[in-house]
Amino acid sequence: MSVRPPIAMLAELTHRCPLSCPYCSNPLELARIDAELDTDTWSRVFREAAELGVLQLHLSGGEPASRRDLTELVRAAREAGLYTNLITSGIGLTERRLRELDEAGLDHIQLSLQGTDAAMADRIGGYKGGYDRKMQVAGWIGEIGFPLTLNAVLHRQNLHQLPRALEMAVEMGARRIEVATVQFHGWALMNRDALMPTREQAREADRIVTEARQGLKGTLVIDYVPADYHSDYPKRCMGGWGTTGLNVAPDGLVLPCHAAQTIPHLTFDNVRDRPLAEIWYEGAAFNAYRGTEWMAEPCRSCERKLKDFGGCRCQAMAVVGDAAATDPVCVKSPHHGALQVQAEAFAKGSEDALTWRAAPKRAAEPAE
Ligand code: SF4
Ligand code: FES
Repeated sequence: MSVRPPIAMLAELTHRCPLSCPYCSNPLELARIDAELDTDTWSRVFREAAELGVLQLHLSGGEPASRRDLTELVRAAREAGLYTNLITSGIGLTERRLRELDEAGLDHIQLSLQGTDAAMADRIGGYKGGYDRKMQVAGWIGEIGFPLTLNAVLHRQNLHQLPRALEMAVEMGARRIEVATVQFHGWALMNRDALMPTREQAREADRIVTEARQGLKGTLVIDYVPADYHSDYPKRCMGGWGTTGLNVAPDGLVLPCHAAQTIPHLTFDNVRDRPLAEIWYEGAAFNAYRGTEWMAEPCRSCERKLKDFGGCRCQAMAVVGDAAATDPVCVKSPHHGALQVQAEAFAKGSEDALTWRAAPKRAAEPAE
């Protein structure tokens, strides 16, 4: 197949994070602070990304505001010609810092929402006072006039708050909300019991989103990731492996998706050793599941194979133990029935059995 350049790059600037969300999708083994790429290296990577054809840069983590040099990094990305989006919990951002980011050219902010009230948000984020802080940050974002997307991760414990999350997005003047039902990768996998939505919740969320898309047309765009364990077809993960986007981890490893390190036989190149374009076009990990040649049945002869590219490789790895298997979410997968039974069982688990994200190993938290 002919390989096109990526459109988007996710730069995971750090794995440090003040929150401890139990659905964190970062790897179990976090990159340490002393392994993080420095300002100059990130700036070079941004230039290489722009030359490669990347248009949008998502600055993420962990919590990207934990990087003291965030403003400098935004400036470097804008100078490289990239559209910059900051994905943040808001913790670590002050009004002054936001104004500096605005001055440096930050184009857009994506603010995460752990719950629509302090009790839920602070419990899920494992950070007391986090919700109030976030609301303050949302106010500054509005005053400065950053285009805003709200990002709500929903699961069994907070799905009833979906209508309020939509209202809040409108109240905050957000142009878009991402309603993402929790995906079970990384740390989240050990919390399936406590977080798996019920089938009824999943259907209700589908209904609410469908109605809201009609009712809020022209006011709010709703991106929706449904509860895939309760679905019949998988999502087109990452827009298709190695087709649309790439992730750079805090230590410089270049990954086809954020969970790719859960596939044990893959090896990843590092931006410290190899130019980004070479990694994208020639890297072994990117070519492992590109296109359709790697597919076995039932995907190989399926009419949907160019639509979903067989679903999510990391989910196939996590559930079936084979990254080249059909995503078990798919009705055509021999594991689909078992997954549905599992989902029903997980959905009856105890909500108290939450394991919060272990505190990232770090030498010191930078002060504002
Ligand atoms: Fe997609 Fe494979 Fe299922 Fe077909 S069989 S719908 S290609 S996951
Ligand atoms: Fe890795 Fe879906 S998260 S392919």
